[in-house]
Amino acid sequence: MTGTPAQDAYAPSDEFVAAANAGPELAAAAEADRLAFWGEQAARLHWHEPWTEVLDWSAAPVARWFVGGKLNVAYNCVDRHVIDGHGDQVAIHWEGEPGDSLDLTYSELLAEVSKAANYFTEIGLTAGDRVAIYMPMIPEAIVSMLACARLGLTHSVVFAGFSPTALRQRVDDAEARLVITTDGQWRRGKSAPLKEAVDEALYANGDVPHSVEHVLVVRRTGVEVPWTEDRDVWWHETVANASPEHEAQPFDAEQPLFILYTSGTTGKPKGIVHTSGGYLTQTSYTHHNVFDHKPGKDVYWCTADIGWVTGHSYIVYGPLSNRVTQVVYEGTPNSPDEHRHWNIVEKYGVSIYYTAPTLVRTFMKWGRQIPQAHDLSSIRLLGSVGEPINPEAWRWYREVIGGNTAPIVDTWWQTETGAIMISPLPGVTATKPGAAMATLPGISAKIVDENGNDVTLGEKEANGYLVLDQPWPSMLRGIWGDPERYKATYWERYAEQGWYFAGDGARYDEDGALWVLGRVDDVMNISGHRISTAEVESALVGHHSVAEAAVVGANDETTGQGIVAFVILKGSAENTGDALIDELKAEVSRSISPIAKPREIHIVPELPKTRSGKIMRRLLRDVAEGRELGDTSTLVDPKVFEDIKSR
Ligand code: WTA
Repeated sequence: MTGTPAQDAYAPSDEFVAAANAGPELAAAAEADRLAFWGEQAARLHWHEPWTEVLDWSAAPVARWFVGGKLNVAYNCVDRHVIDGHGDQVAIHWEGEPGDSLDLTYSELLAEVSKAANYFTEIGLTAGDRVAIYMPMIPEAIVSMLACARLGLTHSVVFAGFSPTALRQRVDDAEARLVITTDGQWRRGKSAPLKEAVDEALYANGDVPHSVEHVLVVRRTGVEVPWTEDRDVWWHETVANASPEHEAQPFDAEQPLFILYTSGTTGKPKGIVHTSGGYLTQTSYTHHNVFDHKPGKDVYWCTADIGWVTGHSYIVYGPLSNRVTQVVYEGTPNSPDEHRHWNIVEKYGVSIYYTAPTLVRTFMKWGRQIPQAHDLSSIRLLGSVGEPINPEAWRWYREVIGGNTAPIVDTWWQTETGAIMISPLPGVTATKPGAAMATLPGISAKIVDENGNDVTLGEKEANGYLVLDQPWPSMLRGIWGDPERYKATYWERYAEQGWYFAGDGARYDEDGALWVLGRVDDVMNISGHRISTAEVESALVGHHSVAEAAVVGANDETTGQGIVAFVILKGSAENTGDALIDELKAEVSRSISPIAKPREIHIVPELPKTRSGKIMRRLLRDVAEGRELGDTSTLVDPKVFEDIKSR
């Protein structure tokens, strides 16, 4: 997808402009003095002690923001609102998959978070310790995150769809002392075991010792669970009985808040580290301005899972710091049927709806008659995140879900950036379908070629690499336990200039609108989830029949990209055709997660390699997408391709 320049742009209505949180003055203020601007934004929060310096960049690329400042993240997201007299406002309209529901006010949330904080203290956890959270979308998951934040504990949320192997890898890397989980999770009306997966993870690796002292289990589905005395405890027998009073202590602005693992270009996931003051400042600032959120008026719904960064920044920290009333939904969009999201929008009067392009395309496939059977007139703003949104899906989203009036904010950011970086401001920007448009006030980006030269505006071949040329408050502070990898991954490519390399391609059209084009490395984007080719390859090679594997992301109408794998079998393996292919797919699903399951697997006699032994993924992508082959002249054996193609 490339931006067709000078096409239709959708300007916000006068009415929207008049009431918008952000006007043109925001950019003007940021341009006048960027650091002073961020200092003003930090004043959105309550600081127990003020900072003395906005940014210390002397140890670049590791930043310190709001130096010397002290705050408590949970106090900012919960206590503050109760103290300000909003204790009775609903914080969370929680909607369970089987149809149960619960409203949690800010006062109730404060009591729950305090209980959990008291219990975590009782079992000996102290600031700096790590806690793994492996839970479905239930209120206790958010309570757990906030209780960690309250105590200066660093949480590591692991998506509950991830395998025991993936969980173990993350628990070990962060040396978590506590794992919080549930007995099971609802998936399309069925209870899938989860505690069992934790046990499998903790007994895995031939019982190699791990750091975990306790497993705290919330009862959710009622399934029977394996139990280890002295290690396992029920939430309802411990946290539930703890005192609801707890006084939040201030922590340094740079206190680590969480580690979140994301795929890199190697098989080993990176533990992205985020800290407190800068992170909360930018998530709060962006949630307020990009979503135009009005506390006490709007009903906000971000459909992400807390296992991803979108759930961290735009369900938990940004929204709660802004005193949101939000929907949190546990299940899938077609449970019990395809009307579920629109029933929820109607039930709660959702006004701001934030989702991923892959889901918009799924809604399109299900047909417009489904949303059109509902009153969606409460919706006044739509958001998109996770991958480039194709113009067709953008138009459908605006017309069918947004009643032809709601502005769409297409928000570009990453686990590493912590918060939105590039997006329209809904009361300022005339948006083009498919374009993320422009950097937010306070953020600076460039599109450059390999040598760091600016690419020319609007030229046909003007694609380049997206770099961030100034530090930003919610930037990652590193990769857990691996400072070298942090430098090598993000800062080496433009070391001379000191720019952050985002790993995405982008272009400016002739009107200066910014279009993000997708990853330029070996990271695939499947339904907005980042998965590295190396991870899937190593899962395939983990199967006893496979000698070698090469994986590419091929265009996919619904999921953005689909995983296509090419494997060579071991001499000893029996090729049972489809049976083996199914087994290999199941192997990847088991060892990583169902989201990493290849769409297609081709068993081939050989893989195309360059003379230096590198697999030519570009050519495999051509094959997977049914294109004419590109340049094959550097291949050792160009005939390999004819063999692969003919299958
Ligand atoms: C892609 C998700 C185009 C991009 C918040 C990025 C996008 C990666 C957009 C980060 C967007 C995210 N337009 N591409 N609006 N949003 N991406 O870490 O390739 O899960 O580098 O963070 O998703 O994925 P991550």
